[in-house]
Amino acid sequence: METNGFFNCIIKSLCFCALLGLDLSSASTPYVGKIYPGFEGSQMKWVAYNGVFLLSNNSVFALRFYNGLDVASFFLVVIHVQSSKIVWTANRGLLVRNTDKFVFDKNGNVYLENATSVVWSTDTKGKGVTSMELRDTGNLVLVGDNRKILWQSFSHPTDTLLSGQEFVEGMILKSFPSQRNLNHYLEIKSNDVILYAGYRTPQVYWSMANDNGTAIKEANGTIFSASIVANSWNFYDRNKTLVWQFRFSRINDFNATWAINDVNATWAAVLGTEGSVSFINLERGAMPGPPPLKIPKNSCGTPEPCNPFVVCSFDIRCQCPPALSSHPNCMPQLDIPCNSSQSVVEMLYIGEKLHYFALGFVAPILKTHLNGCKETCIRNCSCRVLFFENTSGNCFLFDQIGSLQRADSGSSGFTAYIKVQIGNGTKGKKHVASIVIISVLTDEMHMRPPMSKVVQMLEGLCAVPEPPALVQMSSRLYSSFFKTSSEEGISSGLTVIDSVGLLPDVELSGPR
Ligand SMILES: *[C@@H]1O[C@H](CO)[C@@H](O)[C@H](O)[C@H]1NC(C)=O
Ligand SMILES: *[C@@H]1O[C@H](CO)[C@@H](O)[C@H](O)[C@H]1NC(C)=O
Ligand SMILES: *[C@@H]1O[C@H](CO)[C@@H](O)[C@H](O)[C@H]1NC(C)=O
Ligand SMILES: *[C@@H]1O[C@H](CO)[C@@H](O)[C@H](O)[C@H]1NC(C)=O
Ligand SMILES: *[C@@H]1O[C@H](CO)[C@@H](O)[C@H](O)[C@H]1NC(C)=O
Ligand SMILES: *[C@@H]1O[C@H](CO)[C@@H](O)[C@H](O)[C@H]1NC(C)=O
Ligand SMILES: *[C@@H]1O[C@H](CO)[C@@H](O)[C@H](O)[C@H]1NC(C)=O
Ligand SMILES: *[C@@H]1O[C@H](CO)[C@@H](O)[C@H](O)[C@H]1NC(C)=O
Ligand SMILES: *[C@@H]1O[C@H](CO)[C@@H](O)[C@H](O)[C@H]1NC(C)=O
Ligand SMILES: *[C@@H]1O[C@H](CO)[C@@H](O)[C@H](O)[C@H]1NC(C)=O
Ligand SMILES: *[C@@H]1O[C@H](CO)[C@@H](O)[C@H](O)[C@H]1NC(C)=O
Repeated sequence: METNGFFNCIIKSLCFCALLGLDLSSASTPYVGKIYPGFEGSQMKWVAYNGVFLLSNNSVFALRFYNGLDVASFFLVVIHVQSSKIVWTANRGLLVRNTDKFVFDKNGNVYLENATSVVWSTDTKGKGVTSMELRDTGNLVLVGDNRKILWQSFSHPTDTLLSGQEFVEGMILKSFPSQRNLNHYLEIKSNDVILYAGYRTPQVYWSMANDNGTAIKEANGTIFSASIVANSWNFYDRNKTLVWQFRFSRINDFNATWAINDVNATWAAVLGTEGSVSFINLERGAMPGPPPLKIPKNSCGTPEPCNPFVVCSFDIRCQCPPALSSHPNCMPQLDIPCNSSQSVVEMLYIGEKLHYFALGFVAPILKTHLNGCKETCIRNCSCRVLFFENTSGNCFLFDQIGSLQRADSGSSGFTAYIKVQIGNGTKGKKHVASIVIISVLTDEMHMRPPMSKVVQMLEGLCAVPEPPALVQMSSRLYSSFFKTSSEEGISSGLTVIDSVGLLPDVELSGPR
């Protein structure tokens, strides 16, 4: 019964082949259980079986070529036949053609090769591999003498963990890229289990220890491994003592027939392209039941439920902050060159009472007031976005961000600003442009640029030098504020800020 879908599938492809007039007598049938060194073939060879060439003894799992993004390119995958869920992928990111070969050579190495190079390999040459088995659990195993396991797909997970598969510290689960090309990752780290977004600087968006109520602490111990047992996800220390447990079938559902079947079911924990982990009963298929439980629970809790900078609320309602609504896709220009003499930047207000997923997992850069936070971002080339918490004075800087969230009601949340480029110093502008130049003046007179130089900087004729480092609270930060109103006329004013409070004095630094 379970394999009906699979055989229907085979029959369909047989008919398809007959229509195409392919000669099936030369087609190879899939092997069952195991294969031996000296084995090779391409997708073409097993085209009559949808690219399947090895089945587990119970026919629940298959090793096959699988159509990737287009009809001409293929992944090598382990698939759960009945549900058509791919549970392991060999060649992510490097697809092969239908003539490219899977090889299990006499030296015990297993690899996929295209016309020019090896695309994927188990690197088991000369290690004494005697056979390759696809086990009933979905584990693809290279076995040596005395049934010793020399390599197994369970130790090289992609985006899916199966019942009985041990995930240990050091392994990484990586999602397929999202529509916006973002990867998400799951890892065991520092006695915690974390999910993070693969930005230039990775950003954590969920951690088990931080998520009150998801998992239950069972004992004191340091998390080393995780595996799905019956309908819970268990976390163990090195001695296999259960330290945390997460039940993904809800107690209230236990009286339903399907819930009882769930206990012995094959489960898959899948890190989806959108960044949440869902728990799927592979055997249930399309049978009725509740939607799968997810981590994080909150639908706005993943990095990009909406586009970057867009505020996610409730059931993934996406709203562009008014300050950014004039930008296409709500995306301001983010490429601001660090060294550009012509670009001048300012911090643009995005909104308040906001929240951002990574804020719960990073330490503030400094404690200051809003202006201090803005200045710190302006002077830091990689900084693009700041979050400031008025109640604590905490200032957070990011080089890149995902979607924003609404702060919980009752919390004052964070105020956010983004660094934008204004004008570019070129002459001949008709409109009024505000230009902000920041220079940090120490007590040493010689480090101050002369006024004539400042004007040149404004006119884009010379580079703005790196200001000397701001020494904590002691140095005074001067911000010169100029307004250009026409081609020629430059009116100037000075505002003076320091990192402790506003200084009353105004200083000009030398003759013009
Ligand atoms: C074969 O794979 C390599 C990467 O391993 C890739 O650079 C190359 O372009 C591929 N060759 C063909 C013919 O697809
Ligand atoms: C498949 O079944 C055969 C016969 O019972 C057994 O010898 C073999 O080890 C099994 N293979 C796997 C991969 O479980
Ligand atoms: C976790 O939840 C429990 C019960 O809901 C509550 O008593 C406790 O204060 C919460 N802990 C934290 C750190 O939020
Ligand atoms: C963990 O240790 C603390 C003190 O060391 C103890 O109070 C607590 O009961 C322990 N928790 C468990 C689950 O054993
Ligand atoms: C694990 O077991 C060893 C010996 O059985 C013991 O010495 C060690 O303290 C245990 N570690 C933990 C974290 O319980
Ligand atoms: C489940 O069934 C048992 C006995 O059949 C009953 O005592 C229990 O209240 C039921 N639980 C729920 C949540 O309906
Ligand atoms: C689950 O499997 C165990 C052991 O194989 C068996 O004893 C039990 O009856 C099964 N439970 C259900 C609900 O099928
Ligand atoms: C800035 O740096 C880039 C390369 O990093 C260089 O191509 C460009 O000319 C530089 N611009 C200025 C104004 O120095
Ligand atoms: C500069 O900003 C980045 C974020 O873009 C931050 O990670 C880094 O710590 C900041 N550096 C300093 C010196 O503040
Ligand atoms: C920020 O906090 C200060 C006092 O700490 C208060 O006067 C000010 O109104 C607050 N601003 C906002 C926007 O909440
Ligand atoms: C800068 O000025 C040049 C020449 O006037 C113009 O083509 C360019 O679009 C401007 N860039 C920005 C960011 O305003």
